[in-house]
Amino acid sequence: MTPKPPESAIPSPLSAFGQRVEAALDEALPAATLAPERMHEAMRYAVLGGGKRMRPLLVYAAGSALGAALEGLDPSACAVEIIHAYSLVHDDLPAMDDDDLRRGKPTCHRVFGEAMAILAGDALQALAFELLAAHPALESVAPGCRVRMLRALAVACGPAGMAGGQAFDLEAVGRTLSLSELERMHRYKTGALILSSVQLGALTAGVSEGPLWDALQTYGLELGLAFQIQDDLLDVLASTEALGKRQGADQARGKPTYPALIGLEQSQRLAREHMDLAIAALAPLGAQGLILEQLARFTIERGH
Ligand code: IPE
Ligand code: IPE
Ligand code: MG
Ligand code: MG
Ligand code: MG
Repeated sequence: MTPKPPESAIPSPLSAFGQRVEAALDEALPAATLAPERMHEAMRYAVLGGGKRMRPLLVYAAGSALGAALEGLDPSACAVEIIHAYSLVHDDLPAMDDDDLRRGKPTCHRVFGEAMAILAGDALQALAFELLAAHPALESVAPGCRVRMLRALAVACGPAGMAGGQAFDLEAVGRTLSLSELERMHRYKTGALILSSVQLGALTAGVSEGPLWDALQTYGLELGLAFQIQDDLLDVLASTEALGKRQGADQARGKPTYPALIGLEQSQRLAREHMDLAIAALAPLGAQGLILEQLARFTIERGH
């Protein structure tokens, strides 16, 4: 993880989680020397060497808070990040946001061509589900929980999750949405995968209901919305260099965003309100919720 508050500010469990997921992702992805080499290269290019790894950090933080071993959390951490990377590859395509910079590098389609970027995204999506279905580190998770994990990830990237939210986003360009339409769009396109990250952590720990599950559910929902409001804010407030993606892209494309609809100050206030609600929800976890609380603060204090 390379957040803009300096490295010394990152609490040590989080940097350990970050290192862990880098290694696990490297291992989970097909080797670039394996045919079809060009597609495997594109998949590795999209996933490795960049990004804050927020979703994997949430998997590790939620799972370990409920007593799961880190090794058992690796497949879920990789699965959510791989889905996220696929969503970014497709989000950047000319038919969608048409961006040429991502994580400080040319976007996947700029390097590998549109057709290969589409296929790399498709393959990444399937790989994420394969990891949850077949990874040996999940053998000790009860079959019922395992099915719940597959379902949680499917919901998060399907019609009532990321893909549905991206459809709302495309349809909304150039139109003024109501605040509740904008909230729904953000909850779908970004919030759902963030929520699934904490769900996967909990399910790996064998928790699928009860007060701790409910607490994490509220935390994930609130944090997911705060995260996308902050993403909208950074498009206005941060630099291209800090973001590693083009600053001002939303405004240039007439994207529906919180700052465009309610202004900067109100958006900042709302992001903080949702972060506060996320943190308040952690009460039943007691001291075990500390890392999740730090991740919530990072969500709206981050500069990229
Ligand atoms: C960017 O996500 C796209 C959204 C869903 C808001 P991140 O801000 O997590 O991007 P990376 O993974 O750090 O590059
Ligand atoms: C992306 O939203 C949401 C996804 C599901 C990928 P944005 O289009 O705002 O993400 P960035 O700003 O390009 O990272
Ligand atoms: Mg987009
Ligand atoms: Mg985009
Ligand atoms: Mg954005």
